[in-house]
Amino acid sequence: MGQVAVVTGGGGGIGGAIATALAARGDRVVVADLDFAAAARVADAIGGLAVEMDVRDHDSVRGAVGKAVGELGPIGVLVHAAGVVGGAGPLLTLPLDAFDAVLAVNVRGTFLVTQAVGEVMADAGRGGSIVHISSAGSFQPTVGLGHYEASKAALNALTRSAALELAPHGIRVNAVAPGPVETPLTAGVLADPAVRAPWVARIPLRRIATTDDLAPLVLLLASDQAAHVTGTVLPVDGGQLLGS
Ligand SMILES: NC(=O)c1ccc[n+]([C@@H]2O[C@H](COP(=O)([O-])OP(=O)(O)OC[C@H]3O[C@@H](n4cnc5c(N)ncnc54)[C@H](O)[C@@H]3O)[C@@H](O)[C@H]2O)c1
Repeated sequence: MGQVAVVTGGGGGIGGAIATALAARGDRVVVADLDFAAAARVADAIGGLAVEMDVRDHDSVRGAVGKAVGELGPIGVLVHAAGVVGGAGPLLTLPLDAFDAVLAVNVRGTFLVTQAVGEVMADAGRGGSIVHISSAGSFQPTVGLGHYEASKAALNALTRSAALELAPHGIRVNAVAPGPVETPLTAGVLADPAVRAPWVARIPLRRIATTDDLAPLVLLLASDQAAHVTGTVLPVDGGQLLGS
């Protein structure tokens, strides 16, 4: 029957691809997203359960996690892919609202989702695996993305703390840190050749990632083959973090 796997941001590019891959390996997938229609489209396609979840909101997260457990049983896997960039701008002029909005989704959201799912996994006593979607930007600055990169660096810290604190329950917590990936989040900027070219030039393997580059690694971290791996933030970046 596979495990119950919850994917936040499951209606989006990366989350949708991972939800699809988890279903293909036999997991019973809960597709959780702020955009319920997007979640329902993915869930319908893979035979999963769609739930509305605003990761910024304590009650919304608890309600969605409760519905997942109530309908499908104990959660074995969480992939937390919900995230936003929230525009771009230099730190000297970035509006405070933009900074707060990104932190609310990417940091508060990671805290609330990890806490809620970690709690039900610990209570069930069966262990589990949590995979956060970070960003190569959490390690490497790009002009105009400081607000986003700060939020992902905080996500990395939460990943490590959760790994340490949940290890006694047999729950592993890791993250993957992609460089740029072709998804609806990046479609707008990557459609502009003047933007795309310098992004590709930073990547030694000379191409933007696709979701197919990410999903197998997330599935590996979410499997027993990674039984002794916890607290890592794994770059999937075509070598971008090597610098040039
Ligand atoms: N695409 C990239 O280049 C790239 C690179 C590195 C990291 N990431 C990270 O990967 C993750 C997924 O990105 P993507 O490219 O698939 O983006 P996307 O915009 O295609 O999908 C993100 C999903 O998150 C959902 N979401 C947004 N706010 C939410 C909230 N408050 N509560 C619940 N769901 C919410 C959206 O509705 C959307 O379905 C994000 O965390 C992003 O930061 C993306």
